[in-house]
Amino acid sequence: MINENLGLIVLVQTFQKRIIVLKILAKIMKRLNDLRPGITAIISAADTSIDKRLQGLCKFLRDSVPHYDWVGFYFKNGDKQELILGPYAGLPTDHTIIPFGKGICGQVALSNQNFVVPDVKAQDNYIACSINVKAEIVVPLFQNGENIGQIDIDSNSPDPFTKEDERLLEFVNQEVAKIL
Ligand code: SME
Repeated sequence: MINENLGLIVLVQTFQKRIIVLKILAKIMKRLNDLRPGITAIISAADTSIDKRLQGLCKFLRDSVPHYDWVGFYFKNGDKQELILGPYAGLPTDHTIIPFGKGICGQVALSNQNFVVPDVKAQDNYIACSINVKAEIVVPLFQNGENIGQIDIDSNSPDPFTKEDERLLEFVNQEVAKIL
């Protein structure tokens, strides 16, 4: 009888913990999804230059999401097999040109896939921009099916990125592709 009750209590506690985790996830999802109208408004401000809109977008994302410490765009540099830094928000970086294949950004230029890095120390092909960075996410930007650049986000928090960040940043890039 005692064993049965104990089993039931453990089961209820596990269930309660799962609900708490789901609630936290739902809150994060809502918070990130709530940014979509602001993103669209910045991108569609036709009276502002594209560079200024992208700069404003980086700042908006960095200011709105606590785990976004550096937000920037890299674009394919003409016909060259390299990326060139575009608008960004956060500390200046020395890495204004990144060859395809080098670092997380260079790998995404070739793979056409999102790259989520929960712990940058565990990556051997990684270009460090600041000693404070613990995690990174890079999402490719497609125009007419071609990988023409990417959004890159550094975080000073360990392992902060979820599927919701990926969905949000895919949305950002789809919106940006419309004005390039
Ligand atoms: N960490 C990147 C380089 C760009 S900085 O994060 C701004 C990489 O490994 O490609």
